[in-house]
Amino acid sequence: MNGAAVIGASLACVPPANQASLELDLHLDVRLGPGETRPARALEQALREAIVAGRVPAGHRLPPTRALAADLAIARTTVSEVYAQLTAEGWLEARVGAGTWVAELTETARGAAVAPPPAPAPGAGGPAGGPRVIDLSAGRPDPSLFPRPEWLAATRRVLDTASAPDLGYPDPRGMERLRQQLAAYLARTRGVAATVDRTLIGHGFGSLLALACQALVAGGARRLAVEEFGHPEHRDIVTATGLHLVLLPVDERGADVTRLSADVDAVLLTAAHQFPVGVPLSPARRRAVTGWAQATGGLVIEDDYDGEFRYERRAVGALQAMAPDHVLYIGTASKALAPAVGLAWAVSPQRFADRMLACRGDLDRPRDALNQLVLAEFLAGHAYDRHVRRMRAEFRRRRDHLEQELASWVPAARLAGVPAGLQAVVELPAGSDPDAVVAEGLRRGAAFRTLAEYAARPRDGHPPAIVIGFGAPPASQASAGTTMAVAAIQAAIKPAIRGSDQGRTP
Ligand SMILES: Cc1ncc(COP(=O)(O)O)c(C=O)c1O
Repeated sequence: MNGAAVIGASLACVPPANQASLELDLHLDVRLGPGETRPARALEQALREAIVAGRVPAGHRLPPTRALAADLAIARTTVSEVYAQLTAEGWLEARVGAGTWVAELTETARGAAVAPPPAPAPGAGGPAGGPRVIDLSAGRPDPSLFPRPEWLAATRRVLDTASAPDLGYPDPRGMERLRQQLAAYLARTRGVAATVDRTLIGHGFGSLLALACQALVAGGARRLAVEEFGHPEHRDIVTATGLHLVLLPVDERGADVTRLSADVDAVLLTAAHQFPVGVPLSPARRRAVTGWAQATGGLVIEDDYDGEFRYERRAVGALQAMAPDHVLYIGTASKALAPAVGLAWAVSPQRFADRMLACRGDLDRPRDALNQLVLAEFLAGHAYDRHVRRMRAEFRRRRDHLEQELASWVPAARLAGVPAGLQAVVELPAGSDPDAVVAEGLRRGAAFRTLAEYAARPRDGHPPAIVIGFGAPPASQASAGTTMAVAAIQAAIKPAIRGSDQGRTP
């Protein structure tokens, strides 16, 4: 604790003039050392180290004791004890009615609060001795927000009321009660024209996409168009069934569906919120793609992976509502609840629903009737709606934070797309190297990818960009993760900006 003693001497408990009003999310590695039995000691140590290293900047409010205790799975009294101890030592400040704050450093106070966090010391923190990294993967929800008490209550109700046949082999389309609830929910919230018969349950988007591709191939299809940006795994699922990929460029109006020709059999689109670019398919292109499907008999597969998460007033409804006989709509519980729920749903044109069922066979039948009944119960009691509203508010805060941090520290970068979903594309200033930003992020402890990593083929002319999955980290790390990512952008693009400045003639 020598380092702590040195820095502790320079701490001042004067309230900073310009305090950050956001609660600080922590990136702490609270591990019990050899012979250590008290989590309080480990947390105290981790917090001190984080303050010394600048990972927990001065002038910021710490999470409430209840939130930090929940994130770290320790008792709330332990966190209160540690806050009190560090307050007594001068590291923290308790303000009546306003929470606990990191005390301000006397010198370079403002700089210390906002300076990019230093890179983690080699070998510090990580489970294998490497630095611990905050996951900012795109499209991932924060599993720490999973509504455990509500899910448990729904599970109890299901176990109290499930009949013996409920526990037998379910309908190959999935449990009828769940399909009823989903049909009503999707109609109400996404405008989907759904009937119970045409609704099919699957184990995740990937399994339903694979089933749809098998049904297409069984019907003689050969070519499926995808957006040039998307999940490589989804492209792999398509090609594994023997279909050939056709790539559609993506611009500010979404995928260019006007390029679809009659020899394409189906197209996979993230119409509400292009993944990961973030733009919605424009109204003209929505009409163009449904027109193409009606004229050619082609199938539109709509991946509505995060339709619930819009942060502006105008919602974008499902494309399926415009042409229910030509669009296969697929949604998932992975974003609003958690991937561990393992359920997704498809609403299909009638003929295609029959073909998918025929292809399903015995192997892919969703057998987890109990899990499906719990989700049905969750929907029926509107616990799903309440949870989505809470998640929407949380993710909107995280996106706003990213936007504010960028505006403050890297105004030359900008967020692409609409405010929605769990990730955002950051367009870097011309001449920046996105790979260098990713490397700098990793050095500082935040993992994210370049936009190019989602591209099906390298293409010139696309602006340099990275994708920040602000939805992924646990609540206690979200804000730190964003700050690290923005700091990495700032540090890595400086040389590029300096380069162009030097070239300018005064
Ligand atoms: C664009 C997109 N579609 C679909 C999914 C898949 O959801 P699931 O977890 O149901 O496979 C994801 C998940 O990351 C996604 O980002």
